Amino acid sequence: MSCEMSKIMIFGGTGYFGTYMVKASASAGHPTYVYVRPGKPHHDPSKLQLLEEFKSIGVTIFQGELDEHEKLVEVLRQVDIVIVTFGVPLVIEQLKIIRAMKEAGNIKRFIPSEFGNEVDRISPLPPFQACCDKKKMIRRAAEESGIPYTFVSANSFGAYFVNFLLHPYDEKLQKVNIYGTGEAKFGCNYEKDIAVYTVKAATDKRAENGLIIYRLPKNVITQLDLISCWEKKTGRTMEKTYISEKEMVKLSQSLPFPEAVGTAVFHSILVKGEQMNYELKEDDLDAVELYPDYKYTTVDQLLDIFMVDPPKRGIAVFE
Ligand SMILES: NC(=O)c1ccc[n+]([C@@H]2O[C@H](COP(=O)([O-])OP(=O)(O)OC[C@H]3O[C@@H](n4cnc5c(N)ncnc54)[C@H](OP(=O)(O)O)[C@@H]3O)[C@@H](O)[C@H]2O)c1
Repeated sequence: MSCEMSKIMIFGGTGYFGTYMVKASASAGHPTYVYVRPGKPHHDPSKLQLLEEFKSIGVTIFQGELDEHEKLVEVLRQVDIVIVTFGVPLVIEQLKIIRAMKEAGNIKRFIPSEFGNEVDRISPLPPFQACCDKKKMIRRAAEESGIPYTFVSANSFGAYFVNFLLHPYDEKLQKVNIYGTGEAKFGCNYEKDIAVYTVKAATDKRAENGLIIYRLPKNVITQLDLISCWEKKTGRTMEKTYISEKEMVKLSQSLPFPEAVGTAVFHSILVKGEQMNYELKEDDLDAVELYPDYKYTTVDQLLDIFMVDPPKRGIAVFE
């Protein structure tokens, strides 16, 4: 497989993280394709505008449903690599893509929609465990399919977590919540870098049939450190409300979906520290070791971006 010119198909390219992925693939010079469901009734004007932006950077758009098996097989035969960035409700739908990739017979790498915690090594509260179980099911299907794969544990999306924890848009806000003691370490990696590393891994023989983990040393941080860094940059002191572990467990049981899932995710990451509480195994791939020359965005730099032009949840930054 040529590292320079692999044809990359992205499913979910119009989603939050997918937009970063499309941009990373096209910026790296790969012929980039997205498979989107037909325009009506799902596409609002902002989605249509996004598709125009994709076209302007040379991305090819295929329209179709996941149930159109023959069409899927036909478009998959035109590409080398498949990256999926579907949101959680659609994770199981990847079985349809796996089925079509098997029939197409030419796909050299499959990266399923994960991009979070290492699902095979955590034991979160039930609402989050149910999501992880779906991602694990797709891992097992990928392993059984015979299609070369790479699994990506990206840890936390930096812009997403900064938005959630610090509410940077609200300049008057003096209050933040701290989940648990605020001392658990987690990985806070800018979405743009997660996408860049993923495109590199997708075209890298060393990452074939492996798990790559994004523990970027300068981005391993605690909630308390993140807040303190933000306080220094903004000159504001935040009033801190501690949400205890007990309270979070209770909320995960009483809140409806999807809030219960969110609570269980934050419990896993911010209270239990499940992104950092395991040792890497010998055959785990480390993004920084594989790509030492890539200068990733540090948390400190990410907060500087938020000081000037905050990336909102739902809008990827197109430079
Ligand atoms: N590590 C972290 O902190 C973190 C945070 C958030 C998410 N994640 C993970 O990142 C991955 C992507 O999440 P996301 O939030 O970016 O996803 P998202 O925005 O919810 O992605 C939605 C995408 O799925 C497409 N889609 C939805 N329903 C569809 C259907 N019925 N048929 C075909 N396409 C459909 C959407 O297409 P339309 O544009 O047509 O609607 C869009 O492209 C997930 O695995 C998630 O768990 C990780």
